[in-house]
Amino acid sequence: MSALTRRQILLGGTALAAAGLIPAIPKTPLTPAMKLMQSALADDIARPDYMVRLGANENPYGPSRVALKAINDNMHLANRYSGDPRPLISLIADINNVTTENVVIGTGSSEVLKVAGMMAARDQGSIVCADPTYQSLLRHAESAGAEIIRVPVNESLRPDLDAMRAAVREDTNMVYLVNPNNPIPSVLNGNAMREFVLEMARDHLVFVDEAYHEYVEDPDYQSMIGLIAEGHRNIIVSRTASKIHGLAGLRIGFGFAHPEQAAQMNRMKTGDTHVLAIEAAHASYLDPEFPAFSIRKNKESRKIVEDMCEELGLRYVKSNANFTFIETGMQNSMVQEKMREFGILTGRDFPPFHDSWSRVSMSKPEEMRYFVQVYKQLFA
Ligand SMILES: Cc1ncc(COP(=O)(O)O)c(C=O)c1O
Repeated sequence: MSALTRRQILLGGTALAAAGLIPAIPKTPLTPAMKLMQSALADDIARPDYMVRLGANENPYGPSRVALKAINDNMHLANRYSGDPRPLISLIADINNVTTENVVIGTGSSEVLKVAGMMAARDQGSIVCADPTYQSLLRHAESAGAEIIRVPVNESLRPDLDAMRAAVREDTNMVYLVNPNNPIPSVLNGNAMREFVLEMARDHLVFVDEAYHEYVEDPDYQSMIGLIAEGHRNIIVSRTASKIHGLAGLRIGFGFAHPEQAAQMNRMKTGDTHVLAIEAAHASYLDPEFPAFSIRKNKESRKIVEDMCEELGLRYVKSNANFTFIETGMQNSMVQEKMREFGILTGRDFPPFHDSWSRVSMSKPEEMRYFVQVYKQLFA
């Protein structure tokens, strides 16, 4: 059954047919299973087989062929508790010019984020971050008793480093920066960022989340991984195989830190990275072609959406990631709901921007053309 046919059935066909995008089909009564699927969709839960997924910043092409081969070749080891991560750790260390003692493997970079959040919350204290930003570390730290000091982004919609500096308190244990940020895919000036990170790291942990590093085009950007090689004790950087390598479902990501911090993070981890994730990531990081392909396609998709914004006069943030942030001028929940009627999942609410901005993840160019077609039909 084609994806479109599934969507027609799921939605009774009326929404797409009404827009003239597909021929009308008779309305099909929903079975209990379909109702379940529909409620799952209403909750924004993943149903990758029939929805255009523009809500979770995933790579629509992954895993790569070499990663899939590695998964197949190692399937017979699924009876084992874990694989040997050492070759992967060596590879990741080499690629990033650090030592193996600097590298932490997590079940997704989320595990690294959560462990760091726990470290920062040990004696309660506070964490300073931009607002809006990615929430995983912050939620974890908050549930462990830390107070989160959220500093609104500035007028150019970038983290406001001066205001963040001013927000640091006596009890601040960590400063958390996401660069490029999420949900706003802007980047910070590299020199300003480096200066800020070094200054903050004198007395606090600084966590720099670089989940979207590989997509960056802005020449002003600098990764902070170089600071790990320089031996700074209070800096942690994270990266992930979920985005550019398309391995989100296998849950594997990386932290980079001073060997003592890395050892502590390893002790605090609660997940076990499994053999298929390790082998798939190892194969994928050896292959330059798939990331290059992903970057090219992502750029193509971004252009389709940015062209639409230009044409309709919509403000948007020039993206350095695999998603864009658009000022639609409408409640995000309404945009989400209308898009869902057309089989498209877009980003959740990101307060305080949810009154007029929406985050749209990039999928394949053909899906983005469909998104543009639907957007214009509905809102232009
Ligand atoms: C900024 C940021 N950091 C981390 C993550 C989590 O990535 P992972 O799949 O490696 O846990 C995401 C996921 O969307 C993200 O946007």
